Amino acid sequence: MKTKGKLGHSFFSNALLAWNRDINRREMPWKGEKDPYRIWLSEVILQQTRVEQGWEYYERFVSRFPAITDLAAAKDDEVFKLWEGLGYYSRCRNLLHTARVIAFEQKGVFPSNYSGISSLKGIGPYISAAIASFAFGLPYAVVDGNVIRVLSRVFGIDRPVDSTATRKEINALAEELLDKEEPGVYNQALMDLGATICKPRAPLCAACPMAGNCIAFRTGRTEELPFKAKKLIKKKRFFHYIIFEHNNLVYLRKRVGKDIWKDLFEFHLLERDQLMTPEMVLGSREFLDMAGKDFDVVDVSPVQKQQLTHQELSGIFFHVRVKARPKGLEDYVEVDREGLSRLALPRFILSYLHEKNVNLIIR
Ligand code: ADE
Repeated sequence: MKTKGKLGHSFFSNALLAWNRDINRREMPWKGEKDPYRIWLSEVILQQTRVEQGWEYYERFVSRFPAITDLAAAKDDEVFKLWEGLGYYSRCRNLLHTARVIAFEQKGVFPSNYSGISSLKGIGPYISAAIASFAFGLPYAVVDGNVIRVLSRVFGIDRPVDSTATRKEINALAEELLDKEEPGVYNQALMDLGATICKPRAPLCAACPMAGNCIAFRTGRTEELPFKAKKLIKKKRFFHYIIFEHNNLVYLRKRVGKDIWKDLFEFHLLERDQLMTPEMVLGSREFLDMAGKDFDVVDVSPVQKQQLTHQELSGIFFHVRVKARPKGLEDYVEVDREGLSRLALPRFILSYLHEKNVNLIIR
């Protein structure tokens, strides 16, 4: 279907802004914020995270690091610890890197135009448009999942939104629709409409200011749009974590390399192509060589699962108390309960520790 020309689109921003003014009561701590650093921080947190989850993290970051110079001066480990549980840690690494570039090389001054903003590491078109419009009132349209959903439904775009051509078309439409007088208010309103009314499933069309003009609603296709051509195939991974405990200390190492959880700590990991039974793990040569002859198996967890965007993780934790210092863990850190609580750990491991109550892990 062809979208209408420029003049036919004013209904969209009129209806959106009226809805925003009269009905939308969504409150969030970053809403109306003008400080580009805080906007950037909120958008980085929200990039792959639900608002309800990101909210707390945002508040913790802002209260610990009120200004970009505070973040820039922090130790990496403290920032990672504060990020713990949010996932996708490259976001955190880039955040810290860019904070330091701005603080130490640009006198702490955040760039105030689109090209300056978008040249920063970790800041793509979406976050650039958010900062440019929210902080500086510049006319750039944000295009995130919410916006794609609203536009593809209202304008009946039935081509695959995961193709470059359709994305370009949606970006162009978004720029055309943007209210150039109040781009910040408009952008936030559109995200709010997508999040609260035009929801992925069971959208609240009866309460939607666009319903009369929405092609998907009029043709009964809200559940079909946006349309994606590719089905995401998730890689399955199988983790067997051994928590070796010796003299009230446990052993962890920092993950390195291009994989999930880079820079976070983990217990000794046996990753395999499929899940092993506890007998296979505890009877394996690798395990017995490390544990020695004298050990107690304190706990074997049920299979724990976690979905990431592109991976499906399954894992089992084995808590094993050993009499002799385990072999082969020379480059691991040894920590007691206090030390463990200071390390940044993946959510996968944290859930296990919380489940067990970390106090029980080490006597
Ligand atoms: N998701 C990404 N950015 C957002 C924002 N500013 N408000 C609500 N949800 C968002």
